[in-house]
Amino acid sequence: MTKKKLQRFAENTTFPHFFERSYAELTDKPFEHKGTWSRSFFGNDNPLVLEVGCGKGEYTVGLANRFPNKNFIGIDIKGARMWRGAKTIANDGIKNAAFVRSQAGLIDLWFAKNEVSEIWFTFPDPQPGARENKRLTSPRYLKIFTKVLKPDGIIHLKTDSDLLYEYTANMAKTERQRIIHQIDNVYNGQISGPLTEIQTFYEQMWLKEGKTIKYISFHLNPSYYEQG
Ligand SMILES: C[S@@+](CC[C@H](N)C(=O)[O-])C[C@H]1O[C@@H](n2cnc3c(N)ncnc32)[C@H](O)[C@@H]1O
Repeated sequence: MTKKKLQRFAENTTFPHFFERSYAELTDKPFEHKGTWSRSFFGNDNPLVLEVGCGKGEYTVGLANRFPNKNFIGIDIKGARMWRGAKTIANDGIKNAAFVRSQAGLIDLWFAKNEVSEIWFTFPDPQPGARENKRLTSPRYLKIFTKVLKPDGIIHLKTDSDLLYEYTANMAKTERQRIIHQIDNVYNGQISGPLTEIQTFYEQMWLKEGKTIKYISFHLNPSYYEQG
């Protein structure tokens, strides 16, 4: 472990907007903001939007700046990366953003049923080969996310990966998800707003390599919620 990483981990613990709990703590007693995040942490009744696999949290911070009437929480397991976004929140005095260090699969220990309005996946690992169940847009993961997402909630995926994009579009069709937007190349000159204005760390790397950036958003099939 490098000294820089240790310093970042230490500073994370000093941010009031950075949350980290052990599995034992989360299962022993419900997390203090679970079910009341907007009211008890952000002090408002605004919709809650997550960025899962946020890395440095460019979308968490960028969307928070653009949409003051929503609250944004970045989730990742890599605390040293998340420090970048958490530090920006502190430096810029951003009031509607926070970070949670957690495995995505434990999301229902942090958030209650129907608490989340939207979930962004920004350049998640495509998980090639037989690791389909590890993809954040696999039916296995989507069933986990329905434990916290509102029935009219929205899933957004921004990716460089043809594999993940095609997999997600096919999954959406076979699982009868309601696709809202499907864009093969967000830099086709016709798209404006956060999709082109906010670029993540990984996105900038892929753009330098000449990769095409894709986006798909959808509402989950209501039958997902019936499965509990
Ligand atoms: C390719 S990086 C993308 C990071 C950032 N969104 C970006 O575009 O720069 C994927 C991120 O997802 C995180 N991640 C992967 N699996 C995860 C999981 N099961 N739970 C939480 N985070 C996860 C990794 O730690 C990593 O930071």
